Amino acid sequence: MKLLMVAVNTVKPASISVRLHVMYMHSASYRHRSGKKIMASHIVGYPRMGPKRELKFALESFWDKKSSAEELEKVAADLRASIWKQMADAGIKYIPSNTFSYYDQVLDTIALLGAVPPRYNWSGGEIGFDTYFSMARGNASVPAMEMTKWFDTNYHFIVPELGPDVKFSYASHKAVNEYKEAKALGVDTVPVLVGPFTFLSLSKPAKGVEKTFNKLSLLDKILPIYKEVIADLKAAGASWIQFDEPILVMDLESHQLQAFTKAYSELESSFSGLNVLIETYFADVPEGAFKAVTSLSGVSAIGFDLVRGAKTLDLIKGGFPAGKYLFAGVVDGRNIWANDLAASLTTLQALEGIVGKDKLVVSTSSSLLHTAVDLVNEPKLDKEIKSWLAFAAQKVVEVDALAKALSGAKDEAFFSANAAAQASRKSSPRVTNEAVQKAAAALRGSDHRRATNVSSRLDAQQKKLNLPILPTTTIGSFPQTLELRRVRREYKAKKISEDDYVKAIKEEINKVVKLQEELDIDVLVHGEPERNDMVEYFGEQLSGFAFTANGWVQSYGSRCVKPPIIYGDVSRPNPMTVFWSSTAQSMTKRPMKGMLTGPVTILNWSFVRNDQPRFETCYQIALAIKDEVEDLEKAGINVIQIDEAALREGLPLRKAEHAFYLDWAVHSFRITNCGVQDTTQIHTHMCYSNFNDIIHSIIDMDADVITIENSRSDEKLLSVFREGVKYGAGIGPGVYDIHSPRIPSTEEIADRVNKMLAVLDTNILWVNPDCGLKTRKYAEVKPALQNMVAAAKQIRTQLASAK
Ligand SMILES: *[C@@H]1O[C@H](CO)[C@@H](O)[C@H](O)[C@H]1NC(C)=O
Ligand SMILES: *[C@@H]1O[C@H](CO)[C@@H](O)[C@H](O)[C@H]1NC(C)=O
Ligand SMILES: *[C@@H]1O[C@H](CO)[C@@H](O)[C@H](O)[C@H]1NC(C)=O
Ligand SMILES: *[C@@H]1O[C@H](CO)[C@@H](O)[C@H](O)[C@H]1NC(C)=O
Repeated sequence: MKLLMVAVNTVKPASISVRLHVMYMHSASYRHRSGKKIMASHIVGYPRMGPKRELKFALESFWDKKSSAEELEKVAADLRASIWKQMADAGIKYIPSNTFSYYDQVLDTIALLGAVPPRYNWSGGEIGFDTYFSMARGNASVPAMEMTKWFDTNYHFIVPELGPDVKFSYASHKAVNEYKEAKALGVDTVPVLVGPFTFLSLSKPAKGVEKTFNKLSLLDKILPIYKEVIADLKAAGASWIQFDEPILVMDLESHQLQAFTKAYSELESSFSGLNVLIETYFADVPEGAFKAVTSLSGVSAIGFDLVRGAKTLDLIKGGFPAGKYLFAGVVDGRNIWANDLAASLTTLQALEGIVGKDKLVVSTSSSLLHTAVDLVNEPKLDKEIKSWLAFAAQKVVEVDALAKALSGAKDEAFFSANAAAQASRKSSPRVTNEAVQKAAAALRGSDHRRATNVSSRLDAQQKKLNLPILPTTTIGSFPQTLELRRVRREYKAKKISEDDYVKAIKEEINKVVKLQEELDIDVLVHGEPERNDMVEYFGEQLSGFAFTANGWVQSYGSRCVKPPIIYGDVSRPNPMTVFWSSTAQSMTKRPMKGMLTGPVTILNWSFVRNDQPRFETCYQIALAIKDEVEDLEKAGINVIQIDEAALREGLPLRKAEHAFYLDWAVHSFRITNCGVQDTTQIHTHMCYSNFNDIIHSIIDMDADVITIENSRSDEKLLSVFREGVKYGAGIGPGVYDIHSPRIPSTEEIADRVNKMLAVLDTNILWVNPDCGLKTRKYAEVKPALQNMVAAAKQIRTQLASAK
């Protein structure tokens, strides 16, 4: 069977559907021949993009009108077929369907329910690509629907817009079509639907609907549609349906849980003759929700995330209803690490004792959407490191191996290879660096702060820097031209020499420095022409990081990210930015900012090791960045920015865990710069998010200056200060939105700054754009910065004459 799998992975998707039937038959007969009854296995969901992002390229080509709808549909169908086939071959019993999506599964549910907002002029009937992609992406005449984070993952979903007047109807038959499609290929699947409770809970009031609108009151309206869908699936032959209800892991109130119970009791009548699985994931299920979900009489199976849900495991041990199936999510859907099969087997055996052999199903902790696709496409990855990893395709095999082992058909060779890999990971010298371990352990429970308070530091810095009031600066990056990307690419491919590379980058820095001097900006940046990405650039120079060729994970729509893998103790063999920053400083008399990415952001944008707590890894990164900060200071850099774009983003799902996270995250930031002199000015930058709830943690970071992405939400950020929070450090809420090509006028910027001055002291305010300028063109950047500096000067004059 393994041989077949390998063969399949190298086959082009286009040729797969033809062979599928034959191979699946083979797999089924294998199971018969083994003679043993195999414990059931299940996969919650699977990545859609394809092993080499085939769907991304097909979508983008279709959107650019370079290919037809039929061509897109063909790529999609081939991908689905290859996934079903792969799972069938591996021996998975409950194979999901309808986890494929052209854009997003919540948008698919919006389509299923016909909940299209009126601005898309949908006039009924089956929803096609036109309406679907207009909702997803907008077009020249209509904006897209809002997108937001799917729980604590980096996946983003389209937010349903609902209100009392929305008319629902069964408007997309995708679920039943995909079920039939798989069946025609010889695979009987479990259709997956976003559950009605989660769907409504994640929605927002449509335009014009009161914020206080009770979203759950719409259950009465959407359940009849769900019933139609269920009937349709049943008629097509489905014997199982999976409802994803991840919202059950959140902090819910009792009235919400009552609505959940009521919804599924209402659906019960259509469940006859069906097995219904309610799937939860991403965290522990709180006790109240556990009771609610395990008490549903019409539901025959419940899925739990047992990787992130240690407390759920205790609840199950405390009592699980007789006769129901337990889908035990022991293979992690959120990371790229090989499962510790021996440990999972022990957990599963304990569960078997509680729910019985027939009722235990081995599963993944969540959909595999949040991990990379297939390790076979990483031929360049170091062999030892590779032996520690499992991407989605490998996780499917792990699930199956566990199920077989539980049934007494243990693949000894597979298990011992796994045990050997686990052992090598524990003992490998490339994982362990004792000096780093010791240094990081010493940080626990201690505190790190600069010796002097921020107001005294700012005074000392001002004496050295001598900046005007309302100093101007930018966030770090300047436009990355095609030429620049070419130089970096050719250097990496060893097509140009190091000398030529350094010369080209120096020229670029010089251009950026001269431009900023011409514009009369006060604190300069070097523009980051040598960097591809704010995490990868550092990860490539730190030890303990590995990079993949195809380890892509969907972020939204066709967009994917390729996070680095942190596999070992992190240290910094050599300075990473000192050469470029001091080169840039030598080109100007004005202060040049050193630019670093902070530890929390590096951690959060990587696949993090699972053999030690996250904070431990974060402290290690913090120590590496601390070395860099101190080397920059020694090299004469007086202003150093340490970006923590992801600090707010990393906040855990549940409120009870916030304080602990914020404590180590903020501590990590302070570690990076607790060793510098008072006269060295530490900046930080954050992307927009809701700061109001973590403002005290931001103050506790004790940076000298913070710049914040703000212009898309002016009022929200400033309201914190209006409500009386005292902020003594420097602050630069972005004065214009760099995400748009629009050039803001001087008046508009001045107006913004004046609004800020109404709530913030003159001597702490900085004037800067929202974010780095890397994605913009010089034709936009130059006039925008010109207007920004003009606005700052205009207000300085006003303030001087008002004295
Ligand atoms: C919807 O119809 C209205 C009225 O015919 C039209 O003005 C508008 O542009 C249409 N919107 C879209 C997105 O096509
Ligand atoms: C934009 O989307 C709407 C809704 O699907 C569609 O009616 C309209 O034709 C689209 N307009 C353009 C310019 O593509
Ligand atoms: C950072 O972590 C948070 C919380 O786990 C998550 O929501 C976010 O998507 C992560 N960011 C990235 C780029 O992975
Ligand atoms: C900061 O420290 C200085 C010098 O020690 C002291 O005079 C001042 O009161 C302190 N300011 C605050 C806000 O604590």
